Amino acid sequence: MILTLKQASELLLSGEVVAIPTETVYGLAADAFNPLAVEKIFLTKGRPSDNPLIVHICSLDQLAELTPAIPASARTLAEAFWPGPLTLVIGKRPEVPDIVTGGLPTVAVRMPDHPLTLDLIRLTGPLTAPSANRSGTPSPTRPSHIADDYNSSVDILDGGECKIGIESTVLDLTSKPVKILRPGAITAEMIQHKTGIETMYTPDDQKDLNKSPGTRYTHYKPKATVRWISRIPGQFKESAYYLLHSDTPGDSEGSENVISFSGDFSLFAQKLYDHFRTADWLGCSEIIIEDLPPDQFHPLLPALRDRISKASGGEQSDYARGTQD
Ligand code: TXA
Ligand code: MG
Repeated sequence: MILTLKQASELLLSGEVVAIPTETVYGLAADAFNPLAVEKIFLTKGRPSDNPLIVHICSLDQLAELTPAIPASARTLAEAFWPGPLTLVIGKRPEVPDIVTGGLPTVAVRMPDHPLTLDLIRLTGPLTAPSANRSGTPSPTRPSHIADDYNSSVDILDGGECKIGIESTVLDLTSKPVKILRPGAITAEMIQHKTGIETMYTPDDQKDLNKSPGTRYTHYKPKATVRWISRIPGQFKESAYYLLHSDTPGDSEGSENVISFSGDFSLFAQKLYDHFRTADWLGCSEIIIEDLPPDQFHPLLPALRDRISKASGGEQSDYARGTQD
């Protein structure tokens, strides 16, 4: 059912789960301080319970409810980037239920940049929410994706299509130097430029896989096999779905299975999961993605590489084999 703001807040306060919009992807939310409600998230999604969740807040006062002492770096980053697609991992207060943090001594927090959800959190208090997809499928970026995943059995606060389309940057403030555990729309360069804080990003670091358990599981995966190609083929197969960042070759114009973003990487990110889902709906056996340019700077390129590589089962694009960004 599509809910009003009031209905959504009442359901959440009574311990139910509701899908909520954010600027990145839709989340499946519950009252962060109600362990029984949070348990329903894991049951609904089919998510392993050692995979911790992000807590969504609407003010710095709420941040103080979650952490014993707000680190100076968290305050600086919050002022620079919140509301926005940046999640901060910081020490947790004992009051934050273990089911939210997967038993970790830390909690992940962000202030989403969506007016409806900020209004909702003002009514409900902190809401914990993973991406609202069924575990293992691509994150939902439209209400219809959630209706498809759960046969319309999950209640939704409809906030339209998500602006960014890819999950938030996750930053571990408990490590020195500060580590990017998951790349997103806020990049290391933006963080350095706006706050002077240096970060590290090492995608293959095993230690980080243990620190951010979510990175251990199969993520962002459509049913079709995802693979990279270094060159646009002369002919397009009907059984495959093509995502190209350069211009579409003229003879494929109008084909529903050949999509070109003409260098618009923001649009590529916004639509990525929607196209994964469309490819599956069309019954395509493969999703073939043009290698992302190694030498171009765009804030969404590291996040796009990360999500596509994970969807392809860890395969790096040609140029990236043996290198890291
Ligand atoms: O954009 C987003 O972040 C979306 C929207 C709904 O806010 N949420 C999202 O949640 O992507 P989820 O659960 O799909 O991903 C959260 C990531 C996981 O990789 C998880 O392991 C990591 O954050 N995480 C959560 N708590 C953590 C903690 N205490 N320490 C390290 N990593 C943590
Ligand atoms: Mg997720």
